[in-house]
Formats: sequence, structure tokens, C-alpha cells
Amino acid sequence: MNRVEIFEVGPRDGLQNEKKQIATADKVALVDLLSQAGFARIECASFVSPKWVPQMADSADVLAGIARAKGVSYAALTPNMKGLERAIEARADEVAIFGSASEGFSKANINASIAESLERFQPVAKAAQAAGLPVRGYVSCVVECPYDGAVDPAQVAYVVGALRDMGCYEISLGDTIGQGRPEAVEAMLAAVSQELEPAKLAGHFHDTSGQALANVEVALQHGLRVFDGAVGGLGGCPYAPGAAGNVSTEALHDFVSKLGYDTGLNPAVLTKAAEMARAMRMEG
Ligand code: HMG
Ligand code: MG
Repeated sequence: MNRVEIFEVGPRDGLQNEKKQIATADKVALVDLLSQAGFARIECASFVSPKWVPQMADSADVLAGIARAKGVSYAALTPNMKGLERAIEARADEVAIFGSASEGFSKANINASIAESLERFQPVAKAAQAAGLPVRGYVSCVVECPYDGAVDPAQVAYVVGALRDMGCYEISLGDTIGQGRPEAVEAMLAAVSQELEPAKLAGHFHDTSGQALANVEVALQHGLRVFDGAVGGLGGCPYAPGAAGNVSTEALHDFVSKLGYDTGLNPAVLTKAAEMARAMRMEG
């Protein structure tokens, strides 16, 4: 059967956007439940500045508190060397560097131009690889930017090429504000596929305007087989005004299953995890 992998990002991309501090124990409980669902990779930590994203300040405690399931890689965001050092100390299994295809979002999200950010990522990727940690790359605003508007596919391809050259094993393409129309996603993927084979690309679609699944379908046609999802549709980005949650893992699972793909995930556990995620959100 054809395989699609869902990379669970809810405990990071989902929870980072919650205003009220969610208890570390609740985050740990969510990750522990997700660990039973059959994911190979769960992003559950973010070693960014706690002043910029207070919700993620307890990332080391989350990684220390979870019951690590065999065969699951617990992933963390690392924007700079300080983030990487914290991730290594907390025993993250893999890390991610995250850039943007648009200048406006790059500045708002990581306080750096695209060029500065790429320079900053180089030593991070090198040191992570030296420490034996796989490095994933993200490119945000691959179709629309909340500050700069429509993004040129050539610019996305350029940043993808730069992250590829740093040795990222996979690059996730973020429709950060969930405004990408399938035609725009199509044009972007046509440009990006010139730089990196589809087997090394992932789709990261926020679902603000309800087009995430249509965009997943376009990406499947381009040969992508990894998609980021968040249980319960949690999320958004604090530095992307108007961004809603990631496409929900349950909807993604149902959608690709109907198209004949196998995710290897247990739907009953996903339903329980989505309920837990929604309850955390209501309490938060
Ligand atoms: P900066 O202020 O330019 O950093 O922020 P700095 O190097 O000048 O340092 C300022 C202070 O922050 C210093 O502390 C540093 O020690 C501290 P002070 O001396 O003032 O007490 N600091 C740190 N502390 C802990 N961990 C660190 C760290 N780095 C510096 N790693 C920085 C630059 C990148 C740090 C900041 O802009 C930042 O943290 N940004 C992250 C924003 C973020 O997390 N956004 C959400 C994640 S991205 C996303 O959601 C998109 C994605 O889902 C894909 C998509 O949807 O498109 C991935
Ligand atoms: Mg995101």
C-alpha cells in the first residue's frame, strides 16, 4: 500500500500559540498519548527565546517528562546555537532550523533578514550533525506572507536550496497563514522541485481558509508523502497575525486514507489525543 507519513507538530506548533501557560504535566500527557498513535516523529519542544514564545519555555521539562516510545523521534526547533545547546542537553532526537521565504516574516519571527538567518543556521546545522542529530528545515510563507503579500516561488526555491546545502534531511514547506490557493501551491512546488526531490519535501499547511486538504492533494500529485499535522487542529504562529491552526492530524489521516494511502496511525488514539488537545485549549 502507498504510504503517507504524518509528522505530528501539535505539541509544538499547536501549543506555542496558546496565550495561557499550559501545565507541563498536561503537555507531557499529550505527547505520551501521541506516542501510542504510531507516529515516527513528534515535534514537542522549541528552544527559542522564552521572551519571544513564553509557552515553550518549559521545553526541556517536557522532554525530560515524557515516556520515550521506541522508534519515535522527539523533535525540537532550534533557531540558533543557544537553542541547539539547550536541545542537546534536553536530549532531543532531532532538531529543526526554520527560515522564511519572505523578508517581512523573517524579521518578525526570528529578528533577522533571510540572508542573516541563513548565515546563523549554518553553524547550527553543522554542530547538530556533528552531535549526530538529524536536521530538518522549515521554510515559512511559501505562498503568502502576512507582511509582504504574495511570495515569489523562485524565492522559496532559493531558501530550500540553501537549507538543502546545509544538509537538512527534509524540508517542510509552510503555508504559515493558511491562505495558499491550490494554484499558487502548484506553482511553488513546480519551482521547489527543481531544487529538491519531492521525497525530501514535506507539506506544512495551516488551515485558516479551509484549503489545507486541497493543497495536500496538489502536493500528493507532486510526489510529496510527508505532511505535518496537529491533533485537534491546534495552533498558529504568534508572529503571523491571522494564522489559524495546522491542518488537523485526524482530518489529514482520513483524507489520505480515503485516497488509498496508509499512515500507520491508530485512529482511536488520534481521536482521544484530539479530545485531550481541545480540552487543554479550552482550559488554557
Ligand atoms: P533576538 O532578540 O534577536 O536574539 O531573537 P539575541 O540573540 O539578540 O538574544 C536576545 C536574548 O534572547 C538574550 O537574552 C539571549 O540569551 C536570549 P538576554 O541577554 O536579553 O537575557 N536568547 C535565547 N534564550 C533561550 N534560547 C534561545 C535564545 N536565543 C536568544 N535559543 C531569536 C532571535 C531567534 C532568539 C528570537 O527571535 C526567537 O526566539 N524567535 C522564535 C520565534 C518563534 O518561535 N516562532 C514560532 C516558531 S516558527 C513557526 O511557527 C513556523 C513553522 O511552524 C512553519 C510555518 O508554519 O511556516 C515552523
Ligand atoms: Mg507552522
